[in-house]
Amino acid sequence: MKKNKVVLIPGDGIGPEITEATKKVISAAGADIDWLEKKAGIAAIKEGKDVLPEDTLEAIEHYKIALKGPCTTPVGKGFRSINVQLRKKLDLYAAVRPVRNFPEIKSRFDNVDLVIVRENTEGLYSGVENEITPGVVMSMKVATRVACTRIARWSFRYATIRNRKKITVFHKANIMKLTDGLFIECAKEIHETEYPNIEYEEVIIDAGCMKLVQDPSQFDILLLENLYGDVVSDLCAGLVGGLGVVPGANIGEKQSVFEAVHGSAPDIADQNTANPLALIMSAVMMLNHISKSKNDEYKMAANKIKQGYNQALSDGKKTRDLGGELGTDEFAQAIIERLNG
Ligand code: NAI
Repeated sequence: MKKNKVVLIPGDGIGPEITEATKKVISAAGADIDWLEKKAGIAAIKEGKDVLPEDTLEAIEHYKIALKGPCTTPVGKGFRSINVQLRKKLDLYAAVRPVRNFPEIKSRFDNVDLVIVRENTEGLYSGVENEITPGVVMSMKVATRVACTRIARWSFRYATIRNRKKITVFHKANIMKLTDGLFIECAKEIHETEYPNIEYEEVIIDAGCMKLVQDPSQFDILLLENLYGDVVSDLCAGLVGGLGVVPGANIGEKQSVFEAVHGSAPDIADQNTANPLALIMSAVMMLNHISKSKNDEYKMAANKIKQGYNQALSDGKKTRDLGGELGTDEFAQAIIERLNG
């Protein structure tokens, strides 16, 4: 069987540690992947390259799949987020982030099973910011019918394929009548004309957040524009044990980039303490995505890894963010030792 080539972006902060751990787990699970390592973010700047080098972009365009560690973005100054640039340049318009409880991870709820779908290319992330005059600045929120419709259609199709029952849009169309108004108008139209059998509801986001922390089981798929999706993803991570356990994928028509929801966690970088699980789970999503049949090596490796980390957690093997004592490498090793049951 022909090896799949996957672009690997180690990223910044904890990125290199967790991508290394993830690579080891994937290899031990028997998925034969030819990794093509490319730099982005601070790591690229340190090598004298652009923050998002052309060869990194070209590699993803060519090979279609990437596994990415988090990249640092300076606050309030400096270069534009490479994460945002990458999503925009490759038109990775759907960020999908499953959020589920692990029975072995203590959290406030034991019945969370949500999927967050975030529109990844528009909203306030368009990067159109201006200083009108000193002391007066503005940021433009952009919504287009094309992008609002395609993310809505993607969500309903995903719901159908995954046998999900309900889509809830969080919005603020009472205030942003045009932009958020267009977002819900498009979602409603797709529901009514193409997917009437999937339940659909609209909830104003402030009340939605309150409902989420009171009883997350009332939601199934959450569909959000870019900024709301960013914020609500971390909120939902907090419902199931934190950022160390929520994976993600950025999906486009041509390419897909798999990455955890969390950032580069500079506060714990280079200490072998970061939890690699969210990236390992993102890699499982990637293996399922590239798998072509129910029993090819990628599907089998994905299943093995899943059962490996579930077993490791039920044996009490945890990193510090989850109340355990294992380091990044030790936790990856605990998974590797449990890949075959
Ligand atoms: P963060 O997600 O990096 O960290 C928030 C908190 O969660 C920190 O206390 C951190 O130690 C902890 N944490 C995160 N991931 C963890 C893991 N795997 N294991 C254990 N603990 C973990 O968010 P923050 O601090 O707001 O951002 C740091 C940098 O990351 C910024 O430069 C930001 O722009 C960037 N970022 C990058 C993202 C990406 O590459 N997709 C996404 C989010 C933020």
